[in-house]
Amino acid sequence: MRSTGAVREFTDEAVADGTVYEILDDARFAPSGGNRQGWRAVVVRDPQVRLGLRDLYLPGWDEYLAMGRAGLVAWAPVTDREAEAEALRDAGAGKRGAFAERLHEVPVLIVLLADLRALAAPDRDLGRYTLTGGASIYPFAWNILLAARDRGLGGVMTTMLTRQEAQVRALLDIPDEYAVAAALALGHPVRRPTKLRRAAVENFTTLDRFDGPEFTA
Ligand SMILES: Cc1cc2nc3c(=O)[nH]c(=O)nc-3n(C[C@H](O)[C@H](O)[C@H](O)COP(=O)(O)O)c2cc1C
Repeated sequence: MRSTGAVREFTDEAVADGTVYEILDDARFAPSGGNRQGWRAVVVRDPQVRLGLRDLYLPGWDEYLAMGRAGLVAWAPVTDREAEAEALRDAGAGKRGAFAERLHEVPVLIVLLADLRALAAPDRDLGRYTLTGGASIYPFAWNILLAARDRGLGGVMTTMLTRQEAQVRALLDIPDEYAVAAALALGHPVRRPTKLRRAAVENFTTLDRFDGPEFTA
């Protein structure tokens, strides 16, 4: 956990299907609400489909960068929508970086889907942004990254393709009952992340009340 950082640069070394299978074979032990295991994975090898996914990634990425430049948390459920609209006028002006431009070239590209009929989502009816359904899918995604790390590989998860879900659905023949949850890129890392920057426990844990004292050892 302390060394599974995001890896976006990969060597040309291929990853065998057997290794991808093993990774998925470990990742499937992820927990899910009611043990429904509502995930589906599509390993994308077809170059045209990969290119299509890259093209669908870029518009969201441009928007993400523009909102970041404006100091916004992109698409935060609670945000200043006017500031967001203003920021989006600048979309496409920034430098995208090699990962986005070359997403179609990553050694392994997996699209992760969620069966909406299989998600126990107790916050579904609260009238606010819902969170708990994804909690049955993303532990599986994280397990993929941990299992890859265990085999000397690296990778990163992206949810950017969900911005273009209808087109992703058409490209991969995904039925309506499935949502696009993420895409994962995996490969042999050019370099390994060593020190991850994360907030200390005291910064996000309190005792008894939200505004209670910091929880310490
Ligand atoms: C839900 C989620 C969505 C993410 N989406 C993207 C993405 O679209 N593009 C990308 O390059 N990285 C993406 N990331 C990777 C994060 O940027 C990365 O986990 C974070 O910056 C921490 O990086 P580090 O582990 O190297 O410290 C995503 C990560 C998560 C968990």
